[in-house]
Amino acid sequence: MRTKLFLAFALVIFLAILSNIVYKDLIIRDFNDYLLGTEEDRIYWIIASIEGSYMGNEWNMAHLSNSIHWGIMSGFESYVEDPWGNVVISSTEVLSELTPNMLKRMNAFFKLPYGYGEFIWYPLYLEGDEIGRLYIRPLERVGPIPMKEEIFRKRGAKFLALSFLIAGGGALFLSIILTITLSKPIRQLTKSAEDIAKGDFSARAPSQSGKGLIHFSDEIDKLTETFNYMAEALRREDALRKHLTSNIAHELRTPLTIIKGNLEAIEDGIISDPGTVIKNINSEIQRLISLVEGIGDITSAEASFFKKGEPQEVNLKEIVLSITDGMKELIEGKGLSLKTEGPSMNVRTYKDKLLIIFKNLLTNAYRFTPKGGITVNWDACAEDGKNGFYLAIEDTGPGISEENLAKIFERFYKGSESDGSGLGLAIVKELVDVMGGKIYVESAPGSGSRFTIKFTES
Ligand SMILES: Nc1ncnc2c1ncn2[C@@H]1O[C@H](COP(=O)(O)OP(=O)(O)O)[C@@H](O)[C@H]1O
Ligand SMILES: [Mg+2]
Repeated sequence: MRTKLFLAFALVIFLAILSNIVYKDLIIRDFNDYLLGTEEDRIYWIIASIEGSYMGNEWNMAHLSNSIHWGIMSGFESYVEDPWGNVVISSTEVLSELTPNMLKRMNAFFKLPYGYGEFIWYPLYLEGDEIGRLYIRPLERVGPIPMKEEIFRKRGAKFLALSFLIAGGGALFLSIILTITLSKPIRQLTKSAEDIAKGDFSARAPSQSGKGLIHFSDEIDKLTETFNYMAEALRREDALRKHLTSNIAHELRTPLTIIKGNLEAIEDGIISDPGTVIKNINSEIQRLISLVEGIGDITSAEASFFKKGEPQEVNLKEIVLSITDGMKELIEGKGLSLKTEGPSMNVRTYKDKLLIIFKNLLTNAYRFTPKGGITVNWDACAEDGKNGFYLAIEDTGPGISEENLAKIFERFYKGSESDGSGLGLAIVKELVDVMGGKIYVESAPGSGSRFTIKFTES
């Protein structure tokens, strides 16, 4: 990551240099073009002036001399030829006619009398007829003007070097900052991930938000946050698994010990009532079976969080009756009454989960209620403007103390009077959560219990 970042920024710097070179090249070329352009302009002025010196089919030598003089002052050595190749006038000739004082002044600007490079020629016209040719080449300039140009060139180069330093330095600075702010948190994340992989579920990546001189990696913050959230989920899951395993071991031990004790008694021949022994063994085996089933149920309830499936349209009354009808005999056989109150109504729900929930709640009511009866009622309801339904199971049992109310949904929690696995309500809670519903308990010792589940359409 670090090397890659550095490479990326090296590329940025390289591009900065490249653009600088290109830019510099263009500016200098433009400047030279500009200078050349003005030179060209001057030549055309000279040509116009020379052509203007031809009048009445002959050269006006005084005017022509003036034009050539002006040409020298504009920085050119030149001479004019007639159409037959004879030299009419030349700048060296004009120079020789100047006063020494004038010459001295001109020498301050140009190296006289000869220019440099090849002569180029331009045709001279008057009303469409060629009247001769101008041969011309630049004089070498000395003194303030070329100096100014040189200064301009140097300044340009300096400015470009400076701008390069700023761009390149900036890119370098940014690359360092980015490398530090991006790669450091990622290294820390990697370290925490490795710790977790080794089994240390308490490992967390340090939060990055607000840290550092320059902070601009929101994505890294989010990643760190998500990572820590995941780490916490793993830690909880791990704790839960340990808790579950030790509980299962504990729950298995009691029935197995009882079974073993009874079997040993048979072996030793100290049994007076074999029927009771067999009954004991049987009920302990039943306990083991329901424990194993409970564990299976809670595992699949947890798993169903990830594969909920689609809710389906069912008749709530039919669902309730399908369970109460099956348990009616059992309940009434215990001397309890069973009442079902609610309309025939269609609801969208996860039918299988609702069946498990209801069956668990009804079984509890039946098991923990010694006398009186059970009432099941349901109806449509609305919450926060959303439509839904509720289902309540009320009994006339012993009720639950406030202290125990806080525990009944925990895995393996069961009251001293219970011979169950203590998993029923944990499964119910898990499934209600998965379905996006809510569960309420109203209960007090001595006045029965009422469990209500409520679902609204999301
Ligand atoms: N209707 C009820 N009336 C009184 N106590 C209840 C009722 N339902 C549950 N409980 C209490 O909550 C505990 C946990 O219930 P549950 O998770 O279903 O486990 P189990 O039924 O195996 O004991 C029960 O042991 C009991 O003490
Ligand atoms: Mg139960």
